[in-house]
Amino acid sequence: MLIVGGLRVDRLAATYDTPLYVTDADIITAQYQAMQQAFARHPQVTIAYAVKANTALAILALLQRAGAATDVVSVGEAQIARRAGFSPQRIFFTGTSPRTDELQWLAREGVAINLDSLSMAERLLPFVTGGTFGVRINPGVGAGHHEHVVTGAEETKFGLHMETLPALCDLLHRHGHQLTRLQAHIGSGITDPDPFLILIDAMHRAHQCIAHHPAVAIDTIDLGGGFGIPYQPGEPPLDLQALGGTVVARFQECFGGERHLLLEPGRYLVAESTVLLTRVTTLKPTPHVTFAGVDAGFHTLLRPILYNAYHHIVAAERMDAPTDQRYTICGPICETGDLFGRQRSLPTLREGDLLAICDTGAYGAAMSSTYNSRPRPAEILVHAGTAHLMRTRETIDDVVRRDQLPSFLASSS
Ligand code: LLP
Repeated sequence: MLIVGGLRVDRLAATYDTPLYVTDADIITAQYQAMQQAFARHPQVTIAYAVKANTALAILALLQRAGAATDVVSVGEAQIARRAGFSPQRIFFTGTSPRTDELQWLAREGVAINLDSLSMAERLLPFVTGGTFGVRINPGVGAGHHEHVVTGAEETKFGLHMETLPALCDLLHRHGHQLTRLQAHIGSGITDPDPFLILIDAMHRAHQCIAHHPAVAIDTIDLGGGFGIPYQPGEPPLDLQALGGTVVARFQECFGGERHLLLEPGRYLVAESTVLLTRVTTLKPTPHVTFAGVDAGFHTLLRPILYNAYHHIVAAERMDAPTDQRYTICGPICETGDLFGRQRSLPTLREGDLLAICDTGAYGAAMSSTYNSRPRPAEILVHAGTAHLMRTRETIDDVVRRDQLPSFLASSS
């Protein structure tokens, strides 16, 4: 039987129904501590959790208590972070193409803002007096598990290119502001330390090119997130302790021991904490494959269809049974791509069996939808042997709440 945080998942499924996201709070805390340890050789490190990976209020509150800051990309994420107890100074906004009213809200709230374009600076700076800002740099180095998530490469929409940095500094100076932070994020799902070292060098060059400008007094370097986890069984994990040591050494060579090092991990902190429990509704042998239809679909977990991402799948009630059968696991969504895995090795399945889709804590619930008018699942946080509901299951009333009938259609005649 699969156990999460000391609890049998069949009991959780019986109590809360499926599909169900089940998160082990201790794993999040342990990942946070592992990251702290990995970078501990630098005296000043802040770990700003990338809220987009999992926006559950309970998870934010857990990380806030552990001592994290947050990285947000929208007013909505900033508001959730505030509700979870983060002070505005511990919220770092690194959004792209924001609206002016959103920028004004963030500035009024006192959130730390990283500028992503000259346009953003021109629209924001006149409204703020004597502020300090960061800038997101386009470092010209990208990496990641899929082309959609490589953000640092030169041709992407993110960050200021080096050529534009002096103009930004002039603008800051003209409005009486200071540039105190350099930020970059190269991509997501990275398991190789080299891109981070290339990033530090690129940030060092950027710093050298503006260091003497009167608007510039850099005290913080933010290397973004992107730290990968092993999704495939047997895949070697990222050696975070080694990576931390190498990164800190290069960081200190380039920026000395005084400057603050900021990191923005999302996936690394939360991905492995969570399984998605789903029940087999339908077994369907066909001439080519046997489909196992389940009650979760790409509305519940988008990563397989969007990135062809691998998530390991186990028969949760028969963890020790021989996995001598092959099934293609599919959801109930009316699209051919609604598959969680092809020809997966599993024990002989029966309808009603419980499957667990592993490592779904990052970009799982956060990217879910109600496509095909299917309500989103409940989410459970397990802590100290007790299950806590952290998000209720959506109902069809929730799904249609915003619908209205225009008056010309309201009467039945
Ligand atoms: N900082 C910034 C500015 C980001 O854009 C991101 C992620 C992060 C930090 C956190 O990256 P992480 O440590 O989680 O790799 N939906 C995709 C991942 C998209 C990541 C977008 N930005 C997936 O499911 O793989």
